Amino acid sequence: MHITVVGSGYVGLVAGACFADLEHEVILVDNDQKKLADLRAGQIPIHENFLPELLDRHRGRRLTFSDDIQAATQASAAVFIAVGTPPTEQGEADLSYVESVARSISGAINSYKVIVEKSTVPVYTSEWIRKIMLRNAAPPDAFDVASNPEFLREGTAVTDFLYPDRIVLGADSERCASVLREIYAPLTDGSYYRRKDAIPRPDRAAVMPTAIVTSAKSAELIKHASNAFLAMKISFVNAVASICESVGANVQQVCRGIGTDSRIGPRFLNPGIGYGGSCFPKDLMAFRSVARECGYEFRLLDEVMRINEDQRQRFLRKVRNALWTLRGKRLGVLGLAFKGGTDDIRESPAILLVQSLVQEGCQVAAYDPAARERAREMLNSSVEFTDNAYEAATNADALLILTEWDEFANLDLDRLHKALKYPIVIDGRNLYDPEVMAARGFTYYSVGRAPVSPEGHATDTAPSLRTSTS
Ligand code: UDX
Ligand code: UDX
Repeated sequence: MHITVVGSGYVGLVAGACFADLEHEVILVDNDQKKLADLRAGQIPIHENFLPELLDRHRGRRLTFSDDIQAATQASAAVFIAVGTPPTEQGEADLSYVESVARSISGAINSYKVIVEKSTVPVYTSEWIRKIMLRNAAPPDAFDVASNPEFLREGTAVTDFLYPDRIVLGADSERCASVLREIYAPLTDGSYYRRKDAIPRPDRAAVMPTAIVTSAKSAELIKHASNAFLAMKISFVNAVASICESVGANVQQVCRGIGTDSRIGPRFLNPGIGYGGSCFPKDLMAFRSVARECGYEFRLLDEVMRINEDQRQRFLRKVRNALWTLRGKRLGVLGLAFKGGTDDIRESPAILLVQSLVQEGCQVAAYDPAARERAREMLNSSVEFTDNAYEAATNADALLILTEWDEFANLDLDRLHKALKYPIVIDGRNLYDPEVMAARGFTYYSVGRAPVSPEGHATDTAPSLRTSTS
């Protein structure tokens, strides 16, 4: 099938490359000329596992790049809209890019086409896209608007796309649904998985994804509700971690106990420094706005956001409790991306923490395996960037772990110990076992678990951490 994907960012680029791997003919459209030139020249603007392989495989063959949205639309049976939907100051999703795409493609409907929302958008957006296209003289019987939300996590976006738990197809007519079914048929009939050159199956993937066909409105809600639920799960466990700290329980043991209940499930139960990224923070605000417009005050979402914000403040208090005063202290920081496996720093809790620490007069030496360049633009000269974790730790008063990169969980602890001025590690992602850290000579603070010191006993916790959950 001939497919156009408009917007070649984190979502569009991955979707386009994966559609090409499903043997469709894909045109990726973007209005950023530099991005297009880079993509044509073989450069990849984002760090995403398996994306380089897919682009090498299909670039210039099944996958081409263009700034001509009309010509691409005319040549395609389906047009996926994957432009950004950033939050406005009021927290609603800014849909002006989506609207401008809808206007641009209206005049190019030369045969039946399905226009698909891939960006995260509020309920009613599909209706608006249709209205805008009709206003701009698109023939009413020659197109349908569908919603096909993405559930891609950055870092594992390619395998999330090709090995999904489910594929949600929000279509209001059978004609439209059948186009979407055909696009995903290689996944739902399993033929993709039998191919020798298929991208390898990740450990946890479902054997074969099911397509869930719904109305467009239901699909729009599925996306917002899924992200809100996942964010709620994280805030819930962060709140439980705070109680664990107060009573001296171990959040990991608690999570094991609750996560093995199959009704709850073990995933997205990792406490930390709060969720970030381009999706959860903005989607929660947008979902709350949608609910409010429909006459429902979704206060639960307010609380999810409050706990998330609070989690960062708690971590800052933890740093203060470990070091007493902060002015002039040198801190090594591991991780700047909003999570491991990506170079994305949008709404990164790590960046927000570093900014607070710098404001309090700390000197920060930071290392991130992929996000260094993006972080440099944001933090400029206030932070020193190093080439590896040990350099960041060198001569530091303490080491802070802020992103759950795999490589941070496998550090050479002896080397780290030698590099640090004081062997203090404050781990916002619970990457190490406290007992191991104490045995290897570290004073170790983590989230929802008692701090430990080399003497083998829990370190004294300052009263603010013992009693406060706010
Ligand atoms: C996506 C979704 O759009 C968003 O709703 C979802 O919640 C997160 O992921 P993302 O892919 O991260 O956004 O956005 P971004 O990396 O900013 O990419 C958007 C692309 O669209 C950019 O390459 C931009 O140049 C392009 N664009 C934007 C257009 O081609 N036309 C426009 O009118 C606007
Ligand atoms: C999310 C959704 O998971 C995906 O389905 C959606 O379509 C896009 O938004 P993403 O933002 O890429 O994906 O990352 P995700 O893995 O969901 O992590 C989001 C944030 O939550 C990160 O900051 C991460 O560190 C944090 N997190 C995640 C936790 O703190 N604990 C967890 O258990 C899981």
